[in-house]
Amino acid sequence: MTRGLTGRAAIVTGGARGIGRATCLALARAGATVAALDIDSAGLAELARADSGPGRILPMACDVAEREAVFAATERVVAEAGGLDLLVACAVHFHFAPLVETPPAIVRQMLAVGLEGTLWAMQAAIPHLERRGGGLIVGLSSVAVFYGIRHAGVYTAIKGAIDALVRQQAVELGPKNIRVVALAPGPVDTPGARSVIDDAGFAARQARTPLGRLATAEDIAAAVVWLASEDARSITGITLKIDGGITLAAP
Ligand SMILES: NC(=O)c1ccc[n+]([C@@H]2O[C@H](COP(=O)([O-])OP(=O)(O)OC[C@H]3O[C@@H](n4cnc5c(N)ncnc54)[C@H](O)[C@@H]3O)[C@@H](O)[C@H]2O)c1
Repeated sequence: MTRGLTGRAAIVTGGARGIGRATCLALARAGATVAALDIDSAGLAELARADSGPGRILPMACDVAEREAVFAATERVVAEAGGLDLLVACAVHFHFAPLVETPPAIVRQMLAVGLEGTLWAMQAAIPHLERRGGGLIVGLSSVAVFYGIRHAGVYTAIKGAIDALVRQQAVELGPKNIRVVALAPGPVDTPGARSVIDDAGFAARQARTPLGRLATAEDIAAAVVWLASEDARSITGITLKIDGGITLAAP
């Protein structure tokens, strides 16, 4: 099995906290150079101090809603790391509310970060992955795509779009040896999820999860490390649920 990522370069958007942060650390500990793009400068500074093992973390202040900023950050990563092999698009703006009560400014911000941010990061990364002779793009979907989550209308619309985009891009980019995969985590205890799910909500979700435990950010990160390895070279276009089985359980 070849799990080491020494010599590989990655971009993780939303890398300062939650699933993105765990992914940055897991990739670096597997040997990769990892650029964390985020607007949370305190979180980036804290990440830079964490144990990154044999790899390297490059904290980069970047608003993924700004296309030019994403392209500029991507060019910096390529200049510093010598190329690019992997993009993980995690950045998200969480907001749960009834659709009719979601103000336009929030809808636009959610779309700008979650959907446009993913599109800009992919547009910036793809030519560099091609230059490397292939690579991997990971989009963040959600179990929200598989079952209805109350008050998650805008969020689910974005996740559904990412899910569809992954399948479409897997076909478009497959001949260039670029694999494109979506991850669909169940509830994961992160700062973002904490802003929309309270203690009782997490407990209720855990209670109906067949495995009896909720996935952690590290569980999601471990899947990214595996997908980035040669062991997963035949995997593309899938949506990988990492949810303890919650989507199979009765509510
Ligand atoms: N936590 C869960 O339960 C869960 C479940 C399913 C899917 N997901 C998905 O996983 C991904 C990560 O979620 P999380 O729970 O770690 O979220 P989080 O809110 O804890 O972290 C998101 C990160 O994105 C950053 N960010 C926000 N706006 C940004 C911008 N404009 N530019 C750059 N960075 C920005 C934040 O600063 C933060 O560091 C998201 O795509 C989310 O939809 C999470």
